[in-house]
Formats: sequence, structure tokens, C-alpha cells
Amino acid sequence: MINIPKGTKDVLPFDTYKWKRITKVAYEIAHKYNLKEIKTPTFEHTELFRRGVGEGSDIVNKEMYTFLDKGGRSLTLKPEGTASVARSFIENGLFNEVMPLKMWYITPCFRYERPQAGRLREHHQFAVEVYGPNSVMSDVETILIAYEFYRAFGIEPTLHINNIGCEHCRKDYIEKLREYAKPHLQEMCEDCRVRYEKNPLRMLDCKVDVCKDILKDAPLISDTLCDNCKNHFEQVKALLDVLKVNYVADPMLVRGIDYYTNIVFEFVDDDKLLGQNALGGGGRYNNLVEELGGKPTPVIGFGIGLERLLAYMEKKNIEMPNDERVDVYIASNTTNDSYIMYLAQKLRNMGFTVESDLMLRSLKAQFKYADKLDVKYVIIVGEDEIFHNELSIKNMETGEQLKVPYDKLEEFFSNAE
Ligand code: HAM
Repeated sequence: MINIPKGTKDVLPFDTYKWKRITKVAYEIAHKYNLKEIKTPTFEHTELFRRGVGEGSDIVNKEMYTFLDKGGRSLTLKPEGTASVARSFIENGLFNEVMPLKMWYITPCFRYERPQAGRLREHHQFAVEVYGPNSVMSDVETILIAYEFYRAFGIEPTLHINNIGCEHCRKDYIEKLREYAKPHLQEMCEDCRVRYEKNPLRMLDCKVDVCKDILKDAPLISDTLCDNCKNHFEQVKALLDVLKVNYVADPMLVRGIDYYTNIVFEFVDDDKLLGQNALGGGGRYNNLVEELGGKPTPVIGFGIGLERLLAYMEKKNIEMPNDERVDVYIASNTTNDSYIMYLAQKLRNMGFTVESDLMLRSLKAQFKYADKLDVKYVIIVGEDEIFHNELSIKNMETGEQLKVPYDKLEEFFSNAE
């Protein structure tokens, strides 16, 4: 037997309604905030992620699904969607549009990670990217969109927020951090020794105990921010306070991707139901478009892991509403297929979801199946009913059963609804 590749998941027919619901919620929220959907390809030139996501990130260093196509081009299955949207923004001249350009998407992402709870090799994200504004209001609105998405599924993870500075003040901070870490380097993990060279900020969210212990006394970025960054952060927090959005100002939050500047945030599961993993995260990345060859354009966005959202809901015993119910089951003990199929089509044309006995089961087994389907009505069709040109309709919720003349079928259902 051929098995599914490690770290990937099938979504079985009984679970697809959850994904349909996620998509529906995404469209509804997007409409409220005037976000436009964007779709980018599943793979891109490898160079895009090397430059966009950054050589200092684990994603680029260890996790990319990179291959040569038959034309010898190096391509990569997208590990995240932000760099693709930035590429599309530049390539399609979207910078000529009136700003802000607020976009959203649901995309598969591929990362060669060690599969464990909440970590897959193919996962999906609901993501938002807001191009143009550099304002406090756009930061807070973006955070509110993420919040609203979680709340639509009955969960309220904790927002952790930090400001990692602009390219100017971050430089000073990185100096200080390096200075602090240097004498401890030999005790620190191998990854942190590489991070020290390539992306020292990432040492701050190392999960290895020795490193955590060393870095708990490291200088804080909040003490090194320039006045601009400091003010911006204070204003974002003040606006969140006004809007009664709870948050934790977390000076150790740095995120795992190189493009971030200024505000960064993550949605954290306080109960640690999914291990150490964040449910979603994002931040400002005001230099990415320029780094990829476009004009300087401020942007803020986030990505929410959808498998993590579903796993979290499951752990919290939160049911996803399922509106995929079958309305009518036609039970029959007649071989008059044309009568049954004609009736089924008539009901479907009236807008109902209809099932009939394709398995040629006994009447008793058909009722059992109708029960399993949790249908609202069973219409019983026998030779007697056909002869008298009427239908027996049983309301499965009340148990009431009525004889309805065939030509009064529409009337019956329009009154029943
Ligand atoms: P990220 O933090 O790498 O950010 O991923 C966003 C979310 O995707 C995570 O918080 C998590 O829920 C989910 N996720 C990431 N990796 C995995 C995995 N291996 N298995 C399951 N779920 C996973 C980004 O990707 C940025 N592009 C987000 C963003 C958009 N920032 C600005 N705009």
C-alpha cells in the first residue's frame, strides 16, 4: 500500500464541511474590511524566498521544498504566501492602484519540518496583506481582522505584540545583543551560534533551555527603540486598549522570518494545547517590496494556520457548525426508478438537498440510513402512493406523518419552511 507523505493530511469527506466553513468566514470577514482576494502560484522561483523570507530564517535554511524543473530552473513550493504577494504586487504594477490595497488569500504552504503536533509539511494559511499605509490605525485594523477570524470560530487566543524596531534602531540593538551573547556562545546551541552570525534576533525565541536561560537577561529591544518606533508602539497599544483588545507586550517576540520591521505579533494558545506553537502571527514589513525590486511600500499582514485552528478547536471541544444537512430522503419499496428520480429532481429544483435509495436496500435499512443522514423529511414512495398520486411525508423531527397529494408538494414544503 502506498501511504500519504509524512507531514501531510487528507481531508476526508466527513470533514470538508469545516474547510467550507473556514472559506465562508474568510469571504465574509474580507468583505467587511474591504479586502480583495489574491491568488498566486503554488511554486515560485527559489530566489524569491531566498531574498524575501531571508537567508537568516529556518524556512530558507532548512525547510524549503526546492527542485529543478525540466528546464533546469530552481523552483520552490511556497513555504508562505507573503513573498509571493509582494512579487505579484511589483510584477503586476499594483503599486499604481489607489492605496491602501488590502488583500487576503488562503494558500497551501510547504515546509520540510519535523512532523509533530501542530507541525505539518503541508499546511494552509488564511492570510491578509495590507499594502500602502504605515499608520497605527492600519496596524490595529489588521490585528482586529485576525481577531475577528478567530472569534468567528469561538476561540480567543492571546495576542502577543512587540516592536522589533526599524532598520536603524534594530542595527543598534543587534550590536548590543551580539555583545551580550558573545561570551556565552560556546554554551549555546548550534542553531544559536549560526543565528548569532546570520540573524541574532532569532536567538531570543530559541526553545533550548540553556539558551533561554542565558538570554533571559539579554538587553531588551524596547530599551533601544528610536523615538519614532517607540511612539508608534505606544500608540498601537493605546488604541488596542481603547478597543478593549487584550494583549501581552512581549519583548522576546521576534518571529521567524527576516522581512519584519517594527510591529510584530503572534496569537498564542495559553493552554499550550498545541505544544509551543503559535496559532497565527504577522507584523509589519516595510522593506520587503523594495528588497524585491519595487518602490518602498509599507505593508502589514498576518497568517493564521488553518490546521492549527482546527486542532485547537478540537482540543477545546468546539464544534464547527455543519450546514451540509440532507433535507429530504426518498424511501421506496417500488422498482419505479423513473418516478423516484423525477421526484428527486423536482425537489432538488425546489432547492432541497435530496438523497434516494441508490443501494437498493430494504425499506427498514433505508430508514436507518435516513436517520444516520439526520434528514428532516422522509418521503415514502410505494406502489400504493403512486397509484393514488400522493406522497407520504414523515417529519423526522416531530415524528408526524402526512399524506400529501403529489400536486400539493410545493405548497407543503413552502408552508413547512
Ligand atoms: P508564520 O508564523 O511562519 O508566518 O506562519 C503563520 C502561521 O502558519 C503560524 O502561526 C502557524 O499557525 C501556521 N504554520 C506555520 N508553519 C506551520 C507548520 N509547519 N504546520 C502547521 N502550521 C504552520 C508566515 O508564514 C507569514 N507569511 C505570515 C505573514 C503574512 N506575515 C505578514 N503577512
